[in-house]
Amino acid sequence: MITHWKRKDLTGLAELTAAEIRHLLSTATAFKEVGTRQIKKVPALRGKTLVNFFVEPSTRTRVSFELAAHRLSADVVNMSASTSSLTKGETLLDTAKNLRALLADIIILRHSSAGAAQFLAERMDACIINAGDGAHEHPTQALLDTFTICEAKKLPHADLKGLHVAILGDILFSRVARSNIHALTKLGAKVTLCGPPTLVPRELESLGVQVTHDLDALLPEVDVINLLRIQHERQRKEYFPSLGEYTSLFGLTKQRAEKLRPDCLIMHPGPINRGVEIDSDIADSSRSVILDQVTNGLAVRMAVLYLCSGARA
Ligand code: CP
Repeated sequence: MITHWKRKDLTGLAELTAAEIRHLLSTATAFKEVGTRQIKKVPALRGKTLVNFFVEPSTRTRVSFELAAHRLSADVVNMSASTSSLTKGETLLDTAKNLRALLADIIILRHSSAGAAQFLAERMDACIINAGDGAHEHPTQALLDTFTICEAKKLPHADLKGLHVAILGDILFSRVARSNIHALTKLGAKVTLCGPPTLVPRELESLGVQVTHDLDALLPEVDVINLLRIQHERQRKEYFPSLGEYTSLFGLTKQRAEKLRPDCLIMHPGPINRGVEIDSDIADSSRSVILDQVTNGLAVRMAVLYLCSGARA
């Protein structure tokens, strides 16, 4: 049980305790209730300025951080790398210092380099929130995934003992997988990673998870299956012969989905490659909570902004 949140930054879930993760999730539950009110705004961040600084593309994360900040009454500025002075050679740190000179209190950073958010967090007095750094971590994605699991499986205290979660696909290059592994194992879930041996090496077992390459045997065993996108943008060589071959061996096709338990949750952080890692009809089926994940991202990000800015104050 946490009585006082002490972290001004959220750069990853590896360093968080189970109690801290549960505190974030229960705070998000309170903010989800705010979203059901006629007036969906609270004054918690009135007078604060948040900069959404996205050096890589994003739809869900950028928009939900912006909406979360508006709902908390903060002032919001959106920045992309292509229209910033990064293109003229300014460093990331100089850019962030200039944002701070303009009185930014919170910087949300998405960057292609692992450790970019941590680098700023150690050098700035603003709150730094990692919105995805290379293949390292995407903490708010894993928090919203865990929140969605707890909501759908009716686990209000986020005790995931007895729950078996499969993460399927490109684990090697996935920051979403890494953050999910930290959150789920800390909260007691059993986690099994599955995919081609080139993208799901056995060494990942050192993270406290199981590894299998036999998807058909895994499907009937799990309570949740979280599918990951093939991250072409991070791969430097071919890790499987073709997308068609990937789908035939590791895609969640209609036939494979029939092997899942009736109450198995189907998740995907987005963006989806329909017909590659998941059949289009399965993505839109009643067992899919893909859009619930997106909705829950708003409450989770409100909780992160509220707690981290409070710690800084
Ligand atoms: N899941 C996720 O991070 O999506 P975006 O890249 O659209 O933010």
